Amino acid sequence: DGTKIEDLIKVDTREVQMRALSDHEIYDLEMQRVFGHSWLLLGHETEIPAENDFIVRDMGSDSVIVARGKNDQISVSLNVCPHRGMKISTVDAGNTPIHKCIYHGWAFRPNGDFLASPVEKECMHGTMMSKAELSLEQARVTLYGGLIFATWDHEGESFEDFLGDAKWYFDILFQRSDKGLEVLGPPQRFVVRANWKTAGEQSAADGFHTLTLHRWLGEVGNYAKSGQEGGADLSPEMIGVEVSSPHGHALRCIDLGRKIRKLTGLDPDVLSVDQKLDALPPPGVTREMVPQLKRKLSEDQLKVLVSMPPQVGGIFPNVLFAFVYIPQSDGTVLGLTLLHAYVPKGPDQLEFVNWVLAEKDTPQELKEKMLRQSIQLFGTSGMVEQDDSDTWPHMTTAAKGARGRKSTLKYQAVYATGAPEGWPGPGIVNEGFTKDDTQWHWWLHWHELMLANA
Ligand code: FES
Repeated sequence: DGTKIEDLIKVDTREVQMRALSDHEIYDLEMQRVFGHSWLLLGHETEIPAENDFIVRDMGSDSVIVARGKNDQISVSLNVCPHRGMKISTVDAGNTPIHKCIYHGWAFRPNGDFLASPVEKECMHGTMMSKAELSLEQARVTLYGGLIFATWDHEGESFEDFLGDAKWYFDILFQRSDKGLEVLGPPQRFVVRANWKTAGEQSAADGFHTLTLHRWLGEVGNYAKSGQEGGADLSPEMIGVEVSSPHGHALRCIDLGRKIRKLTGLDPDVLSVDQKLDALPPPGVTREMVPQLKRKLSEDQLKVLVSMPPQVGGIFPNVLFAFVYIPQSDGTVLGLTLLHAYVPKGPDQLEFVNWVLAEKDTPQELKEKMLRQSIQLFGTSGMVEQDDSDTWPHMTTAAKGARGRKSTLKYQAVYATGAPEGWPGPGIVNEGFTKDDTQWHWWLHWHELMLANA
């Protein structure tokens, strides 16, 4: 309708035009300009532990084969046959030394190298291309805490630069143990009829919605039973330190002492670092693993971990992480580590992918409990994310309306506090009750990529 990309965002009033959530043209552009240039989460290396294991995932609107080849090398190949464009792998996962296209039989190695075609002499007669040119297009790949990230931008910034200041905090979560993390079972996946950005911007540490949409969390079950500070009132959970990033990443850090008092009844003020880690350990971390944490993390990172650890946030553009503590009926507390990716499947559809992660050293019995409770809460038929999955489609539909598309999303709750005194971490840091800053930075980065990669 003539609106320029520049005008989708009003910086002075912190508004975003709602048509950004529904327009086909914008979707097509962001597949190139945002998803074509960002590092994207595809899975975890423990999903493909053996040579020739593979999973099929999406990078924006493109299907890719993520495979472990020789020498433990993980490759990400465009899942499009260079012959006539057939999708090469039509399954979700498997193990094979050869990926063979079912159309005319061209065959490829797990690393995407062209291997051969049937009746090659006749089929390839007079070919003008080398085998290297007939190989599958490769994405640039990196592993971070075993998480597999890839980008199509071979000349773009390193993964480290992409994380920027947020890496200091993410390392506390994903790089704190000797053996690292593993996924528990395959990810749960389901489709939501909503634009990916409805979930993407929420993943940038939206706190306000928890107070209303997930209010029941404070009203039912064990969570409410543990509510010694006012039962259904979740607002204390929204007080903490929020970190925004010029790259669109976001974190909310929550007072661990308050949680220790609430969930265990202990007085955090008299506890040592070790006692705090013992009282409410990071998810899956056992007493035996505490020395690893002290070795892997800097003194300042450890200080944040035992005082104001990151609890929820996002990795731009479409990943949410959450560290959740669930009170158990026997009085203990179970910590869970979750990662969600909101994979675009068209302007009004996303695939919700939910990974449950644990430290490799977490005892097996505890891993099974973590997986069970994660599925009950966050899986396809879970309780928490189903609230969101009902909200996002309504926003997407509203953004298609003749008037609705011209309405705006508003991010006008602004921090003016700055970091708490002595805060050791980098980034754009603010303390207090949650605001809109983290999500606003998410939109600013989206806008920057939409303009920069034209
Ligand atoms: Fe794949 Fe022809 S399209 S072999």
